[in-house]
Formats: sequence, C-alpha cells, structure tokens
Amino acid sequence: MADIARVVGETVTLKRSGANYLGLCPFHQEKTPSFSVHATKQFYYCFGCGAKGDVFRFVMEMEKVAFPEAVRRVAQRMGIPVPAPAREEATSPEAKLRKALEEIHEKALGFFRKQLQSPEAAPVRELIRKRGVTDEAAAEFGMGYAPGGGDALARFLSKEGFAPNVLEASGLVLKRDALRRDTGGHVQEYKDRFRGRWMFPIANETGRTIAFAGRALGADQQPKYTNSPETPLYTKSRVLYNLSRAREAIRKANATLLVEGYMDAIAAWQAGVQNVVASCGTALTEQQVHLLTRHAPEVIVSYDPDSAGVTATDRSLGLLLAGGMQVRILRLPGKLDPDQYIRESGAEAYQARVADAQPVFRYLAGRALEIHKGKTPEEKLAALNFVLPYVASVPNKLIRAELAADIAQKMDVSTGLVVEAFRKAAVERRPMVEAPKSGSRIPNAEAMLIRLLLDSEEARQGIGNILEEKGLLEMLESRTIVSTLLGMIAAGEQVPDLASLADRLEEGQQRLLAEVVFDNEAKPVSVEEINTYILALERKQLHRQRLALQRRIQDAHDAQDSRLALALLREQSELDRELANLI
Ligand code: GTP
Ligand code: MN
Repeated sequence: MADIARVVGETVTLKRSGANYLGLCPFHQEKTPSFSVHATKQFYYCFGCGAKGDVFRFVMEMEKVAFPEAVRRVAQRMGIPVPAPAREEATSPEAKLRKALEEIHEKALGFFRKQLQSPEAAPVRELIRKRGVTDEAAAEFGMGYAPGGGDALARFLSKEGFAPNVLEASGLVLKRDALRRDTGGHVQEYKDRFRGRWMFPIANETGRTIAFAGRALGADQQPKYTNSPETPLYTKSRVLYNLSRAREAIRKANATLLVEGYMDAIAAWQAGVQNVVASCGTALTEQQVHLLTRHAPEVIVSYDPDSAGVTATDRSLGLLLAGGMQVRILRLPGKLDPDQYIRESGAEAYQARVADAQPVFRYLAGRALEIHKGKTPEEKLAALNFVLPYVASVPNKLIRAELAADIAQKMDVSTGLVVEAFRKAAVERRPMVEAPKSGSRIPNAEAMLIRLLLDSEEARQGIGNILEEKGLLEMLESRTIVSTLLGMIAAGEQVPDLASLADRLEEGQQRLLAEVVFDNEAKPVSVEEINTYILALERKQLHRQRLALQRRIQDAHDAQDSRLALALLREQSELDRELANLI
C-alpha cells in the first residue's frame, strides 16, 4: 500500500502528532500547521482550507496531473515498476471532456467578441457606450454579443468540429427534439442558449473562460441575466467573477472589494479599484469565502443599498466572519448601486468611500439599532441578540471578547447583567438567537459513533441497521455524515474509504468529519458503550414524541374533542409502555 505520510512528506515537513502527522498546508498560506495526515486511514485534511483526499489526490493537486499519471508517480516513488501507458489512455474520459469544454468556451468567446462588431450588434455597442464602459474595458472583460437568430453559435461550433456530446455538455446550446413537417419523423436540433444578449465571459481563477452570462438588452427581455448552467468546468458556488483579473491587486491591497453585480465589478475596475470581485447576485457561499481568504485577510463589502442588498450583506457577514476574515462595510448613500454611484459621483468619490468603509461591528451595531430601535431594555436586548451570532462566529476568542465589550458600549447598554450575559455568550460562542452553523461541532457521543462505524466491522453490521430501522438518524446532529456513511456501506463498501466519504459531503460537513477523525484525545469505544448510547437516543426520541402528543392532547381538550383526546391518551400510554420497556 502507498504510504501517504511518505509521499506527502516529500513536499511537506510533517511532525508526528499523536497517531497523525501535522504540517503547513501546501495548498494555502498559513503560519500555524493545520494540514493533517492520517497514516492508517490514508487521508489528509487541512483544517485551514479544507483540502482533503488520499495520496493520489494529493499528487494530482500538487503536481497538476490526471489520475492515471498520479497513480504512476506514486507507484514510482514506492519503487513499484509501472510500464508507460499508451498515449491514448493517458487521459481519462473526464479529463478529455474538460479539455474539449475549455476549447469550446475559448471558441465561443472569440465568436461572441467578433459578433459584437457586426451590424446587428450596433444597439449593444451603443448600450456599452451609454453605460460608460470604455473600449479598453470592453476588450479587457471580453464583452461580446450573442446573435438573436437562434442557432448561430450552434452552427459555428458544429462547423468547428465539436462533437454533439461536447456541445450539449457545454451548456451553450440546448438540444431540441423537433418534428419534421415532411416525414413526421423526429430530428435533433441545436438552439443557442444565449440569444440577442450582451455577453460577459466568466473565468476561473486562472483566467480561463468557463461560463457566460448574457444580459438582456432591454426591459422587455426576460430574465435580465441568463447564465450558463453548471458543467464539469463551472460550479457556480465556487466562482467569484473577476477573480483572475483582480488577484494581483488583491495581494497588493491585502484586501478584496466584494460587490454584487457584473457591472459593479467592471465599473469599480474602471474606477481604479481593481481588487474587486462579484458574487453575482446569488447568496455568498462558503466556498467563495474560502477563495477570498486564500488571497487576502480582509474583505470590503459593497453591496447594493436596496433592502435586498442590505439583507444579503447581513447574511454574507456571518459566513465571512466564520471564515476568519476581517470585514469592512461600504454603505453608499441613496439608492445607487456601485456602478451607478461611480457614474454619478466619479471614480475618486468611490475610491474615497472604499478607503472609508466602516468596520463590520460598527456597521452591525448600527443595523441592530435600526431594526430594534434600542430604547427600552427589551429592545436593547433584542438588538444585542441580533449582533451576537455574528460575534459568536468569529473564530478567535480574544477578538470575540473584545468585540462584545466594544459593541455593548456602542449600543449604550449599561445594565451590568445584560452586558455580562452578552459578553459571556459571545466568548463561549453560545448564540441566544440562530447562529451560523459553521462554528458547531459534533457532540461527543456522535463522534464516538462515527469513529466506531469507521473502525469496526461489527459495528457497521449491527448499528447501521438499528439506526435506520428505528428512525434514529434524525436524532443525530451529524445525520448527514452518518447516513452518507451508511449509504456507502449499504452500497457494498465493506471498509468505507474516508476520502470518498469526504467527497460526498459538503465542506462544512467535511470539516466536522475531519475533527472527529483527527481527534487525538479520542478514546477507543466499545460496541456496548454505543449500544447504551443508542438506547439513550431511543429514549430521547420517545420523550420527544410524548411531548408532541401531550401538546396535541391539550389542543384536543381545548377544542373539547373528547374522542380525539381519548384516542391520543391511549397512544400516550402505549408510548409510556415502550419507554418502560427500554430500561
Ligand atoms: P445592471 O442592471 O446592468 O446594472 O446589472 P447589475 O449587475 O447591477 O444587476 P443587478 O444589480 O440587478 O443584479 C446583481 C447581479 O445579480 C447581476 O450582476 C447578476 O449576477 C445577478 N442577476 C440579476 N438579475 C438576474 C437574473 O435575472 N438572473 C440571474 N441568473 N442573475 C441575475
Ligand atoms: Mn447595476
């Protein structure tokens, strides 16, 4: 078997830490080691950036090679002789498709750009000019035009020799089953996804076009923006618009300006604020925050001042703070978005606003008072509770304590008890109201359960079935992890592979799983202990059902529905019998 610690150890200096190894992550910048390698489980995970996988994934990512090549390289290092592959099998079908998709996007980009010069595109050129976009910016951002005809791009791409499966997978064309008038038979036709639109290429971090957005030319055209669907190249939640162009400027400024719209990003760029990226109208995702943290520690949020933009700001803040970012907020006066503001007030005015953006907690204290007025003690408490989850999501404890004191002061809360409760809740990350999820951990007993399922064949056989049969999965906070794991076992994976389990989980869940796996303090658990725990779960579940039942009985009494009340009471004594049997 390939020794993951040895292979990783060639590029990362690893130190032993209990049963595991620890080192500085090669996939992101860090000062304290959070890159963990589990030798027996053949799995690595970075608590800083979420990078994870097995030894082959490590080589693929480090050395930017496809899977077969990674296998070869690992084997070579282990001293296992491997014959060189025939040229054809060197790349997997997936890698081939990706390559074709990259090419087709490149061709489409050229096509749209050329079409922008056609007579048909005169209104778009006029629109671009009216929006204050310079020729240089239009070229820099690869702006183009998608003709309105219906299948101009489809025909162009077919002529370029792209196979039907590539055309379809690109998302740039739509396949339609058409009826032939003459014969009555069916034919397949390709239609353009983007018709009569102002085109914006969307690039990945390295600047390669992986998708497009097409803006409507007038209010009569709906929707305002049409976007490429998700493809093997394009995962919406992992892309920040303009990141490739902004990277250098972000590094220099040590901060990223985050705006909502394509046009906002372009306008800020033209105004000399080149460290700008856009989240593109969707709610910011954890992966996008991760991307941001990799490039600079600070983010300046410049969302639209309308109410949707303000709500989006509030929501994104939790994620940004949980990601450990320093956050500042830029609130523009009036109702103008950054693009409109720049056109009205000029580049310098916007630059000044960026420089002047306020620290996030001053913004939040202001928002809290706006929402709750903050005059009476109750209102002040409600206002504190509005801010608390944000404070609680800051990873650093000292900063949390400081922030709590600071906010209490800003909100003019002087009642000692309230301030103390607030401070304590903040430091302990105990949210009085809904808290962002990412700070949570898996309860101890559940962690033991997961470890046991990973380690013990016996547990996998028995416990999985019990959990499912009795509907106890729902009782677990880690139900996603456990049910995914059980799913893999049910699908015939006798010894579930940690890397592929992690692959099936979202990033937040991957992290929770890694915390369980890399917990050095964890003691071995026996099947008996887990059985006791499952019994407790059952009891808890029955108690919950009983509570719900009691509520319904009360309702039935209130409604003077004695027949229902009687039936429910019977159910309750049934439950009580079950409960008694459990002990
Ligand atoms: P302009 O209206 O041309 O100034 O564009 P904008 O970027 O300012 O658009 P807006 O503020 O309305 O929306 C912000 C962002 O949300 C856009 O840049 C898009 O990314 C996204 N968006 C807006 N409308 C739509 C839509 O109808 N469909 C999709 N998929 N995205 C949209
Ligand atoms: Mn706009």
